[in-house]
Amino acid sequence: MTTPGRSFPADFVWGSATASYQIEGAATEDGRTPSIWDTFSHTPGNVLNGDTGDVADDHYHRWSEDLDHIARMGLDAYRFSIAWPRIQPGGSGPVNQKGLDFYSRLVDGLLDRGVKPVVTLYHWDLPQELEDAGGWPARDTALRFGEYAEHVARGLGDRVSTWTTLNEPWCSAYLGYASGAHAPGRRNGADALAAAHHLNLAHGLAGRAIKSVLGENTPLSVTLNLHVTRPADPDSAADRDAVRQLDAVGNRVFLGPMLDGAYPADLLEDTRTITDWSFVQDGDEATCHVPLDVLGINYYSTAKARRWDGISPREQPKGHGDSPFSPWVGDDVEGQLIDYPPVPGPYTAMGWNIDPSGMYDLLTDMSRRYPDLPLMVTENGAAFDDAVSTGPDGRPAVHDDDRIAYLTGHIDAVARAREDGADVRGYFLWSLLDNFEWSFGYDRRFGIIRVDYDTLERTWKDSAHWYAELIRTRQLPA
Ligand code: NOJ
Repeated sequence: MTTPGRSFPADFVWGSATASYQIEGAATEDGRTPSIWDTFSHTPGNVLNGDTGDVADDHYHRWSEDLDHIARMGLDAYRFSIAWPRIQPGGSGPVNQKGLDFYSRLVDGLLDRGVKPVVTLYHWDLPQELEDAGGWPARDTALRFGEYAEHVARGLGDRVSTWTTLNEPWCSAYLGYASGAHAPGRRNGADALAAAHHLNLAHGLAGRAIKSVLGENTPLSVTLNLHVTRPADPDSAADRDAVRQLDAVGNRVFLGPMLDGAYPADLLEDTRTITDWSFVQDGDEATCHVPLDVLGINYYSTAKARRWDGISPREQPKGHGDSPFSPWVGDDVEGQLIDYPPVPGPYTAMGWNIDPSGMYDLLTDMSRRYPDLPLMVTENGAAFDDAVSTGPDGRPAVHDDDRIAYLTGHIDAVARAREDGADVRGYFLWSLLDNFEWSFGYDRRFGIIRVDYDTLERTWKDSAHWYAELIRTRQLPA
């Protein structure tokens, strides 16, 4: 299927991505206060092996070395996130200058090396005080986020290439407040939908704050993990309707207000036994609808859906509903009679299926839905059980052919989508470094640079050399 040698234009942006809590460490330094992920990871039973982000990759102290790796790899851009509790300890009030200075140094360090800084304002580290006051289900959190965005816009200014408000609000809302798999670990469907709305509102308020501080032409984005769900039986109208329902609750719940200025009618109808949506106030949908310059898309895998008519979620066969797409199954969310049959392999170490056709379908589908909106793949990559050997120079080596094959297939799919008309402007590989993979801790490695968690030493895997070569030649290596 893949075509080695497929080439990309010189202005196609090649990047890599990370997130604050996953790499920084230094959890209590320079005035940073706890986020919901500090609390969650320090609560036994939430994260595999009891891992926390206290040290992570120690990027907070090793940032300069990490930027040297980025420069040596030839990346055009680097996507990183800002920890809200470093900028505003406790989530409100004046700027903590030391926290802002860290990101200011990082941005300058990137620019000095000729790399474009792509900033994400929220990659899940909500200040704990804001969760204590109600978290994302509370409207006030969105208002606080608008203020925080204004502080960061003033602090970093026009040195930033692209401003991204939120990363994967689907995870914040549903994994955080419905399934409880992510911080803050709450399990209530109505709260999850209120959280989704306040994330949309936060996006709109932050986007408006950034544009009012830095000007209307400031490039603004949001990153969504849009789900590619296919009917288990394409001939079944019921299964196709399950897919529609998941598209509403998983994708259009964000796309609607952010890009069309309104929640889709079928979403409101499908969820009316869970909530009456009275938390949406007059004018909110217009606020969420801030003009975007580019849409960030994170893609990893696909899912299948099947309608289980007449069977309540609790009575569904065991072993189902454990896909990352399924926070709606179980608990106090009634009426979502959807099952997720297993999808064929091969799989990554996350258990996610490897299916580059999902990347192609998603990019071409989005470019049809929003023909004037440029797209950017803001995450794609894979965790595998890396084997470490000793190279000829006596240093560790990782021959991660499986990761290279995954990347080749997916970058080829990006090229095919572009050829078929999708306006995809760039690709950010997840991730630059092995890091804290949320509820899986350090057990799952997504990096193209290996991190030895005893010594914190960085080592390029074969995939890092492969990616550097791709960037140098602007084509998939033959
Ligand atoms: C999406 C998230 O944005 C990122 O934080 C995470 O590590 C990767 N997916 C892999 O699960």
